Amino acid sequence: MIVLGLESSCDETGVAVYDTARGLRAHALYSQVALHAEYGGVVPELASRDHVRKLLPLLRQTLDAAGIAVAELDGVAYTAGPGLIGALLVGAATGRALAWALDVPSIGVHHMEGHLLSPLLEPGAPPPPFVCLLVSGGHTQLVAVEGIGRYTLLGETLDDAAGEAFDKTAKLLGLPYPGGPQLAALALQGRAAAEAEGRRESRFQFARPMTDRPGLDFSFSGLKTQVLLAWQASDRSEATRADLALGFEDAVTETLAIKCERALRETGMKALVVAGGVGANRQLRARLAALAERRRVALSFPRLEFCTDNGAMIAFAGALRLAAGQQDLAFRVQPRWDMATLDAVTALPSPVAG
Ligand code: KG4
Ligand code: ZN
Repeated sequence: MIVLGLESSCDETGVAVYDTARGLRAHALYSQVALHAEYGGVVPELASRDHVRKLLPLLRQTLDAAGIAVAELDGVAYTAGPGLIGALLVGAATGRALAWALDVPSIGVHHMEGHLLSPLLEPGAPPPPFVCLLVSGGHTQLVAVEGIGRYTLLGETLDDAAGEAFDKTAKLLGLPYPGGPQLAALALQGRAAAEAEGRRESRFQFARPMTDRPGLDFSFSGLKTQVLLAWQASDRSEATRADLALGFEDAVTETLAIKCERALRETGMKALVVAGGVGANRQLRARLAALAERRRVALSFPRLEFCTDNGAMIAFAGALRLAAGQQDLAFRVQPRWDMATLDAVTALPSPVAG
């Protein structure tokens, strides 16, 4: 089954073609980062309008790259939520119109399910059951995945998401939008400087929030204040800024790793999967790799380009559901959407899980 996937929930337009027999055939992404940069964050109306401009050219480009004609599509998947309503409507309307014209089934995909299943696009990824750490700009969740559509929330952030904490802290350290990757790059400089001085860590040791009590919830909103106060009390040099970035990154990634270990222990599951934009963070990857080795569990990440928003994960998640006979008969987008309400998929098409 050849499925087109459309992602337009926020500030990236993503298109991909997933073939249940041959895997990912092609994908393309257009990022609106430059458009929103001068506002310091995503402007919803500008995002919707830019999706309208970019989606069809990107769709043609992706079909060309896959070497298939539009009439060869067997189904269409689009992100139906959660996300910005205007932005979601662009992908949903395009996807459904195309499916209707081709007389093929279509399905609205949950954006976070897309992220959660994205590691399975890589060969050799562990099939469920696994613990998934979902860390993006909007979510920080630990989820027990028993199967496709069988998700139990183990814990989540009570305030800021990990990516949001990265972005806000970057902003108050004066880094340009989008801050997360910039802060990570600065922390890398901080690490090099620390090593040159014979230190193993940052001079700034911030709290590891909520690790001193039981449970799998997170709280990251206090960290940015700690960083701000330390910055204000400092000499405000470039070296200090880099060292602060390192101290912050240490705190977030160690906190995430501690809770991942707890989730593995509590569920007894033998595999850990990481998804979402913060999954691109190198220090987080290194910490979780060490944890997986120590606990002898399998560890899987999406490739770097599929950590952040993309069409491939939507094509893949949609293909799994369409191939199992599911489809959406009604046109609907949901800016808020609880993943626990998703239907389970019992029969998996064989070549999907690597
Ligand atoms: O999954 P994603 O593309 O969008 C959402 O659905 O939210 O995640 C974007 C988030 C942003 O907060 C961004 O700052 C963060 O992921 N991010 C990173 C890194 N790359 C992206 N955070 C830390 N280190 C990175 N290397
Ligand atoms: Zn996302």
